[in-house]
Amino acid sequence: MYGGTVLQAGGSGGIVPEGSRAEIFSQIFEVFVALGALVGVVVLSYMLYNAYKYRDHDGRADEDEYERPVLGEIPTGGGHGRKLLLSFTISAVIVVSLVLWTYGALLYVEQGAAAAQPEPDTAETMTIEVTGYQYGWKFTYPNGERVDGTLRVPEGKEIRLKVTSEDVFHNFGVPALRVKTDAVPGQTTTTWFGPAEAGEYQAQCYELCGAGHSFMVADVIVMEQSEFDQWYENMGNNTTSGGSNSSVSHPAATEVRVVA
Ligand code: CUA
Repeated sequence: MYGGTVLQAGGSGGIVPEGSRAEIFSQIFEVFVALGALVGVVVLSYMLYNAYKYRDHDGRADEDEYERPVLGEIPTGGGHGRKLLLSFTISAVIVVSLVLWTYGALLYVEQGAAAAQPEPDTAETMTIEVTGYQYGWKFTYPNGERVDGTLRVPEGKEIRLKVTSEDVFHNFGVPALRVKTDAVPGQTTTTWFGPAEAGEYQAQCYELCGAGHSFMVADVIVMEQSEFDQWYENMGNNTTSGGSNSSVSHPAATEVRVVA
């Protein structure tokens, strides 16, 4: 019921795509694929057209009217460089527009939504602190409750993350939600994602951080708003949501810690 309404204040009629990260990145992907396909079709068609036009057939290719290039001579093309100029111009326009457009979209991703102002929360946002450690993730909610290993969020909200680490460099990322940011000890990085569709996703560490790096995962569960509210209200009573790490230690976690 909340989906799609969160970012409407930013307007939706502009050239630069707006919405959740997933939507923006899929739009960038689609535009690049569409333009790439278009350019490919034009180039290949023109190539085939010329291959056909200048085919060696009944000896016609030897006739002067075809202006075959001669070794050692620069072909004139007969158009005073018009074709060359045209293709350069079109290429430049396409490439420059793509650069500007993509830059605008990424600027929106980095600054436009939550990243610039992670706090305070509004009715449409929720800020969650993410703490990486060797080897797992802890999530601290606005109510002060901390959960280890599972991030639960409501589907309709824009989720703002404040990410840090308590030991070495990590990197928190959820590929399906197109969100990824550094987790650095002593620093807080902010990022955001959503509104996301209800479902289960996986977060993973993306910075080689030790022997247990590849096991440094967390579940990301996007819940329906009412379901989430119910869970959130009962959080304090849930004894399994404490900050104890002992229950999640992985065999690999017993290996040498590189940095104290
Ligand atoms: Cu933490 Cu890799």
